[in-house]
Amino acid sequence: MNETLNTLMTRRSVRAFQTEKQISREDLQTIVDAGRYAPSAMNRQTWTFVVMQNQEQIQSLARAVGKALGRDAGYNFYLPNALILCANDLSANPMGVQDCACALENMFLAAHSLGIGSVWINQLYDTCNEPEVRRQLTSLGLPESATVIGCAALGYAAAAVEGRPKKDAAETVVWNL
Ligand SMILES: Cc1cc2nc3c(=O)[nH]c(=O)nc-3n(C[C@H](O)[C@H](O)[C@H](O)COP(=O)(O)O)c2cc1C
Repeated sequence: MNETLNTLMTRRSVRAFQTEKQISREDLQTIVDAGRYAPSAMNRQTWTFVVMQNQEQIQSLARAVGKALGRDAGYNFYLPNALILCANDLSANPMGVQDCACALENMFLAAHSLGIGSVWINQLYDTCNEPEVRRQLTSLGLPESATVIGCAALGYAAAAVEGRPKKDAAETVVWNL
């Protein structure tokens, strides 16, 4: 198996991170660049990536999201070292969700290739227009018109991840060769 295939076959969502180990600025740049180089419908590239590494900002956003969802006070996005929001203006780009999904997967794979764990955080999609959440997103630089499609929580894995099972190919693939 070549290196690219090995990277995408061995990536698994990581939900516990080493809290002390910092992702370098260079690696964050590489990860976000991998997102920017994803395909987008009609090459619109209308997405906005918000890169966060300040722990107070990440946890303040998690608290606001948790509150909006009625979660307990411990809601924390799995305490990642960094969080990259991928957002799109869905009124300007009807394919904005699909475009961000491509970008997020590129970022997960790039992170994995660098030895960095990741997981999709979905909860901002439903809560990004809640007043306190939007206030924080605006102060982080997100355009008012942008919906957060998904986030990549990033960090060095705290332990080896077994990974959730994949369905047998016979359940999901229909061959017509
Ligand atoms: C659209 C989407 C939303 C997801 N949202 C979350 C989430 O909010 N929290 C979470 O822990 N994992 C989330 N995941 C990760 C999935 O649970 C995970 O990809 C799946 O269980 C398969 O495991 P794997 O990524 O290790 O292969 C999401 C994945 C996708 C594609």
